[in-house]
Amino acid sequence: MKHLLPIFFLFLTVNGIAQVYSLPNLPYSFDAYEPFIDAQTMEIHHDKHHAGYVNNLNKAITGTAMEKVSMEDLLMYASFRSASVRNNAGGHYNHSLFWDILAPKEKQGPISSELQKAIDAKFTSIDSLIATVNKAATSRFGSGWAWIMVTPTGELAVVSTGNQDNPIMDISTDRGIPILGIDVWEHAYYLKYQNKRAAYLSGVWSLINWEVVSQKYTAALNNPLLKELEKDNWLAIKDFHKVMAQTFHPAEEKNMTPLRTRSGELYAKSILLKNSTPPLSANNARVQQALSKLEKQCFDIHQLVQKPTKDEARKDAQLFEMISKAHDIFHEVEGLCHD
Ligand SMILES: [Fe+2]
Repeated sequence: MKHLLPIFFLFLTVNGIAQVYSLPNLPYSFDAYEPFIDAQTMEIHHDKHHAGYVNNLNKAITGTAMEKVSMEDLLMYASFRSASVRNNAGGHYNHSLFWDILAPKEKQGPISSELQKAIDAKFTSIDSLIATVNKAATSRFGSGWAWIMVTPTGELAVVSTGNQDNPIMDISTDRGIPILGIDVWEHAYYLKYQNKRAAYLSGVWSLINWEVVSQKYTAALNNPLLKELEKDNWLAIKDFHKVMAQTFHPAEEKNMTPLRTRSGELYAKSILLKNSTPPLSANNARVQQALSKLEKQCFDIHQLVQKPTKDEARKDAQLFEMISKAHDIFHEVEGLCHD
């Protein structure tokens, strides 16, 4: 029997669910948040709801390439992922942030002067910021979150998202890195406050640890993800990329039909891209030059596609060479955006 144990554990490892993500401990005891949030709510919220998001996320990504993808990447491309990954990755990220920023009064630290300055500049005072967050939280229909985030241009902004979405996700119209989130699902407050969301909100601000929010503010400003979010909001490059991928990748497999049928669309998207405004950090002469080169290359491709020929094989070879060059220029633009 003894020698069967290792085999049993090996079986569990191979067939079990990979624990890529795990439930973080709550920093304080369940009753430490009283009287603003009751102990029973904290226990159910953490041990049942948050644990459920972690377990379901692990189930959804086990055996897929997403096991090796970062949490930020899971969130950033949420629109391409299943509802299960979107909801449970969001649920895990959002709740982890929520536990971080809550603390009983005696454990709270002060706000940093940098964050205080940024709040004063944008909202005039903390009180007015709190009122703005409360407004976003109370007007959120159904379940969701209210956020203070850092935008790609480094400013503070208040937004609200539904369900377990958050502003890192590409399904959000306003993007940014959250530094404070208030859970307005009923599971966060119903036992104590029933349907009185506003009463819960006025209580929860007594638990906000501004020292941790300040640390998250500094970290967000220095997070390379901010630049990624800015670039990801450049819709013209996303549009162009889609047509480029759908024509170039088949061409790599010697299928020239998509390029031959969509060269006009590719050229049109390259014009739209050239005339669009790049994100601030990429709006420079080198990027503009590369965009002009890309537009010219797409024009030449479209011209050749339309030109009659008796040697289709030779034309395909020329087209492949040209779309490969366009693809290189496109990545040159992308590369310049990362500089
Ligand atoms: Fe929650």
